[in-house]
Amino acid sequence: MKIILSGIQPSGTLHLGNYFGAMQPAIEMQSLGQACYFIADYHALTSVTKAEDLRRYTFEVAAGFLACGLDPRETILFRQSDVPQVHELAWLLSVVTPMGLLERAHSYKDKVAQGAETSHGLFAYPVLMAADILLYNSDLVPVGKDQKQHLEIARDIAQKFNDRFGPVFKLPEPVIREATAIVPGIDGRKMSKSYGNIIPLFGEEKEIKKPVMGIKTDSTPIEQPKQIEGTVLAQLMQAVNADAYKDYLAQAATPGVGYGDLKKKLLEEINKRFAPFQEKYRHYHAHPDEVETILQDGAIRARALATPVIEKARQATGLSQ
Ligand code: TRP
Repeated sequence: MKIILSGIQPSGTLHLGNYFGAMQPAIEMQSLGQACYFIADYHALTSVTKAEDLRRYTFEVAAGFLACGLDPRETILFRQSDVPQVHELAWLLSVVTPMGLLERAHSYKDKVAQGAETSHGLFAYPVLMAADILLYNSDLVPVGKDQKQHLEIARDIAQKFNDRFGPVFKLPEPVIREATAIVPGIDGRKMSKSYGNIIPLFGEEKEIKKPVMGIKTDSTPIEQPKQIEGTVLAQLMQAVNADAYKDYLAQAATPGVGYGDLKKKLLEEINKRFAPFQEKYRHYHAHPDEVETILQDGAIRARALATPVIEKARQATGLSQ
């Protein structure tokens, strides 16, 4: 059975971009093998600075995945930090990782270019990610296209380790979702917490309504037909309800229909699509112990997969006798 592994950082409130870009595809893939999905809390520490935030976001990702249809009996859902052996492996990988490989990483270079304060954790991020992937003998790693280079780095590191110490690691196959970029934020850029342009997945009605009503549109007057193809409104409608998309374009092209009406229609569709998930989410919110039990069980199963791999790496390097 193929191991399908992916991680999501608990670094902010879950939004529609997370859902369409990462969660929905991961949930769809869970029946294709042994899926292992983890909450990358160690990674999130490169950006989250408050303990209470990390706890809240971690819960939100776990409960969110469960609410959106992850089946915890089949899929191993776990917290990265519940398997701390990943750090031992990260060290073993670090010693074969050329500095230049990390210096060329786009995500690191982008952060430097943005003037962010950099840290060794940020620089070594791809090594920890390689350890995540290799520790579980992953076959397939579904990620958005922004993570493509990180996967290439993971394969490079695995190859370097095998060349030096013998054939320990399986080279993982990336499964790149090219479509990720189709979920724009309310200002038209990629939906991202750091741009402040998100539509939250869970939350009070007004927390969802406000950004939807704030979606950027042009100033075509109400009595004129609107060509909305390719706009934020149209792209979001296509993601939320593809069946209603054609009608939506036609509605927009009808004189007398304004952007306010189109936003309300989109809001309705968002509420309709996510209402069942929101209800389940509220259940987990009221019963956090259920989520914790699932994560603990996931940690046990994840450790069982990790133990023989880390032992093999220890043997190969001479740490184990
Ligand atoms: N870096 C990934 C992201 O930000 C999250 C991640 C961490 C990950 N470790 C991983 C994804 C291992 C896939 C496999 O999206």
